[in-house]
Amino acid sequence: MVFKKDFLDKIINITSNAAIACYPYLGKKDKILVDKTATDEMRKNLNQLDIDGKVVIGEGELDEAPMLYIGEKLGTGEGPSIDIAVDPLEGTNFAANNLPGALSVLAISAKGNLFNAPETYMDKLAVGNDVPFDATDLDFPIEKNIKNIADCKNKALNEITACILERPRHKEIIDKLKKLNVKLKLISDGDVAGALLVTDKKYNIDIFLGIGGGPEGVLAASALDAFNCKFQGRFLFKTDNDIKRAKKMGIKDLNKKYDLNEIVRGDSIFCATGITTGDLVNGVKLENDKFITETLVTHKNSTINIVKKEIAIT
Ligand code: FBP
Repeated sequence: MVFKKDFLDKIINITSNAAIACYPYLGKKDKILVDKTATDEMRKNLNQLDIDGKVVIGEGELDEAPMLYIGEKLGTGEGPSIDIAVDPLEGTNFAANNLPGALSVLAISAKGNLFNAPETYMDKLAVGNDVPFDATDLDFPIEKNIKNIADCKNKALNEITACILERPRHKEIIDKLKKLNVKLKLISDGDVAGALLVTDKKYNIDIFLGIGGGPEGVLAASALDAFNCKFQGRFLFKTDNDIKRAKKMGIKDLNKKYDLNEIVRGDSIFCATGITTGDLVNGVKLENDKFITETLVTHKNSTINIVKKEIAIT
């Protein structure tokens, strides 16, 4: 299925409106409220679309947020069958503290084309399209990945920059990167954006890696597909409950490493609207009687764009 331009525009409106809904709650130190506000707004607008939609990637028990839950039916039911991946507020800490980098994110595809994943963690690797596919792998030692990237780009190791969430679980990998003399971009949250920093030289990120949310991994993969970048992910099922849910969703090999084209098949639309200004897009601005939003939009084979919208206050 190829999505038409007016449909793309409707999806941009959905993340834009979810971002605008967060605006009054920025810096109010209430993660739950701002997340619920974005979620409610996204649900309301998705329900007005003429689609037979189903959430395949939703918010869940990982952060016990008010969620658009996996399996939830969305839309009027009157149109095409669509799979939906949502993160109405990616970076709840950023929004609650009015810090850079909060996004409202949505990806959609024809039914069956987005990986149906439980809300566990995922070990991830993303690399730009200027590095040959075989040069990096989630299963290579970190040293090999970095050296191969440096060779391909004709850079010294100390000219390579790696982006990773700053978490105690990444101590070993960060120590190895430091030993290699690699530059680090340690992000406190927001690894959808972190992964997308490999898409353009202007961000100066050579590799994104580490463990973050599985849903965020699937969302990032949808955009990275349009940029022809590499993404690999392995879900980490730790608890009995995780394993039970994964099996229920049809995942047989719990240790499988997924390539991008196994996570996103065919055409998908990805939209990320800035709530607060970050590396990728500006946040919501209020000017006179209208809000101005910026959305990174990708649609494989047709669009990679930052779309500005002016939306009147209602
Ligand atoms: P939330 O917006 O749900 O708070 O997620 C923010 C985030 O940083 C994600 O970008 C990332 O994938 C995940 O949290 C990492 O989880 P944890 O904070 O448990 O390490």
